[in-house]
Amino acid sequence: MLVSGNEILQKAHKENYGVGAFNFVNYEMLSTIFEAADEKKSPIIVQASEGAIKYLGIDMAVGMVKILANRYPHIPVALHLDHGTSYESCVKAIRAGFTSVMIDASHHPFLENLQETKRVVEVAHCAGVSVEAELGRLMGIEDNISVDEKDACLVNPKEAEEFVKESKVDFLAPAIGTSHGAFKFKGEPKLDFERLIEVKRLTNIPLVLHGASAIPNEVREAFLQSGGDLKGSKGVPFEFLQEAIKGGINKINTDTDLRIAFMSEVRRVANEDKTQFDLRKFFAPAKDFMRKVIAERMEILGSAGKI
Ligand code: G3H
Ligand code: 13P
Ligand code: ZN
Repeated sequence: MLVSGNEILQKAHKENYGVGAFNFVNYEMLSTIFEAADEKKSPIIVQASEGAIKYLGIDMAVGMVKILANRYPHIPVALHLDHGTSYESCVKAIRAGFTSVMIDASHHPFLENLQETKRVVEVAHCAGVSVEAELGRLMGIEDNISVDEKDACLVNPKEAEEFVKESKVDFLAPAIGTSHGAFKFKGEPKLDFERLIEVKRLTNIPLVLHGASAIPNEVREAFLQSGGDLKGSKGVPFEFLQEAIKGGINKINTDTDLRIAFMSEVRRVANEDKTQFDLRKFFAPAKDFMRKVIAERMEILGSAGKI
């Protein structure tokens, strides 16, 4: 059943578990996320970036989610706009049927971010749609980073408190040291858990971890085996995800792990049978592997069995 992001994340916030927010760019990814949720009895957030919306068409993105939500009426699912860059983009998504939006004005100064977020919250809440905002900049923390540099890039807990109070935003993504993609950390993985705990204490709302892909060994190996190159890649270890959930993270954004898993299988099949051109012979094993990766993640985040 299609529900607002709030319906899913308020429960996760109260019961202290994480829910995967999985990106999709086509039917294969989207249907696989639903299949894993069905298998694990897990709520899900499915999210589309502006790039994914451009690729699919907004009507197709919403249409596919609605059809799958009807096919699996027992699964609570929210359709979320990932990294909306403007008020206009959020309004378009709301009008098209998204049940949750992110306004990402985190690259603007604090007050501008706050003003833009407030505008989105006002219109979204009239439509029963939840809103996520971000504070700080997404970047991996390096071992030798100074306290000043850290303060300049990562979320400021006091600002987070004021931001949430003033904007009435539903969820906040605090920058605590993750980054997008497959190359998250130069040295050892490191996240600022103390900062996270302070943000949770001062805001007491569901928090979001962007750049939360783990690149599990099995996924990295499959990609390498297929002939792919992931030199220097590093994800957020599973133990860190669980520590982050203990510290108050409830929405765990995941895209890279799904892309790598899917493409490993596509490349493997392409290499193994150079005469193959039936799309289904590539996509069926790609979906199988991706489903396994998502199902494992649902166990790790604690959302398995929550419906
Ligand atoms: O946070 C970004 C997501 O991984 C989506 O990326 O803009 O390439 O669709 P994209
Ligand atoms: P990953 O690149 O770690 O999968 O993060 C995705 C994300 O944060 C989408 O908003
Ligand atoms: Zn993100």
